[in-house]
Amino acid sequence: MNILLLGSGGREHAFAYKLAQSKKTETLYIAPGNPGTAQLGINIALDITNFENLAAFCLEKKIELLVVGPEAPLVKGIYDYFQSKEELKSILLVAPSFKGAQLEGSKDFAKQFMQEHNIPTAKYKTITKENLEEGLAFLESLPAPYVLKADGLAAGKGVVIPDTLEEAKNILQEMILESKFGEASQKVVIEEFMRGIELSVFVLTDGKEYLILPTAKDYKRIGEGDTGLNTGGMGAVSPVPFADEVFMQKVEQRIVIPTIQGLQKENIEYQGFIFIGLMNVQGNPFVVEYNVRMGDPETEAVFPRIESDLAELLYAAASKQLKSVELKVNPQFATTVVLVSGGYPEDFKKGMKIENAEASESLVFHAGTASNGEDLLTSGGRVFAVTSLGNSIKEALAKSFKTAENIRYEGKYYRKDIGKDLLNYE
Ligand code: AMP
Ligand code: GLY
Repeated sequence: MNILLLGSGGREHAFAYKLAQSKKTETLYIAPGNPGTAQLGINIALDITNFENLAAFCLEKKIELLVVGPEAPLVKGIYDYFQSKEELKSILLVAPSFKGAQLEGSKDFAKQFMQEHNIPTAKYKTITKENLEEGLAFLESLPAPYVLKADGLAAGKGVVIPDTLEEAKNILQEMILESKFGEASQKVVIEEFMRGIELSVFVLTDGKEYLILPTAKDYKRIGEGDTGLNTGGMGAVSPVPFADEVFMQKVEQRIVIPTIQGLQKENIEYQGFIFIGLMNVQGNPFVVEYNVRMGDPETEAVFPRIESDLAELLYAAASKQLKSVELKVNPQFATTVVLVSGGYPEDFKKGMKIENAEASESLVFHAGTASNGEDLLTSGGRVFAVTSLGNSIKEALAKSFKTAENIRYEGKYYRKDIGKDLLNYE
């Protein structure tokens, strides 16, 4: 079948890597893709939120399966758009409906959903201009620190965790009265702070059946020891050694099953990925957030461990036949180290010439690169995601760090402590 994959980051390079291996894949198109995906399929310069143009392309190229990497087209309602047009209905989408995508698009919707379906999560209250006083009183009732989240999508920057009550009250008022995060923060979710270790669990569902994909842990801060500003993600490890069988049983029973059943009860169409951000609080899983897509860079650690044919899995999910497929996973560890541009996540220079990014004992996924026809250049904050497999985290890390060291461009930076916190759990 012909497949169109949307996105341009390391995550999409990892999707393309797996899809290109499939016997089911005839032609793989990637919009807009990057120099990494260009080696695996045909990059096509399309705006991924312009559904009309995407639809015309799908008809012209006889696309049978449309796979969406990032959240923007999902939250904008790509699934509903394709369902609403007779000539597009037969195209299968790996994408939740507009309503399903609200699990990521609105923190308030997600919290209500969890409350309604008894899914363990932090205590919360949703605040707008109308009940601001209630919000201030709720903050007073909570112990420090405080968690304030802009309701809408805010490019990963909508969450603030102030240490003092005074700061929390000020930020709440700024978010609501002065739209600190624009429209996204006219509604704010205040949450109780949960203490524990975070991990990500990925589920592929056809709306009824589900497959729990390998777990991963990501590293969000720019600095070693989890310090400094938040980034898109500086590395990942899969599987997460503390997510043992007992813990994963709890995740499945308390979170995955009620989530899928909740979608069914609310008649929410959902054929796609559910990315569950979890906090392990003394051995018990609580949901921090839902995303309706795969994570980046978690995908770059998770997919290389999947031995099943990804095109087959995605086709099965999109056509509501997930029961007919089996998930096979490589038991080895995968470690992903992200190489970024100097200065990221603040200002950074682009256009630095890259050398030595070719084959090594790692998989080198392109995240922010561009080609000028001759040279490979940096073109984003996150430049590469380097993944290696090994029989231990240590072994996999040694390979990733060796490859990371060998790749050359001006301003290269990566965290050298990825996975170190997990070494004593192995
Ligand atoms: P979110 O965008 O909801 O994933 O929040 C971003 C980050 O803030 C999470 O990855 C956590 O590290 C942290 N966080 C969010 N909610 C909570 C909470 N209730 N308790 C503790 N940390 C949280
Ligand atoms: N790595 C976190 C995310 O993709 O949202």
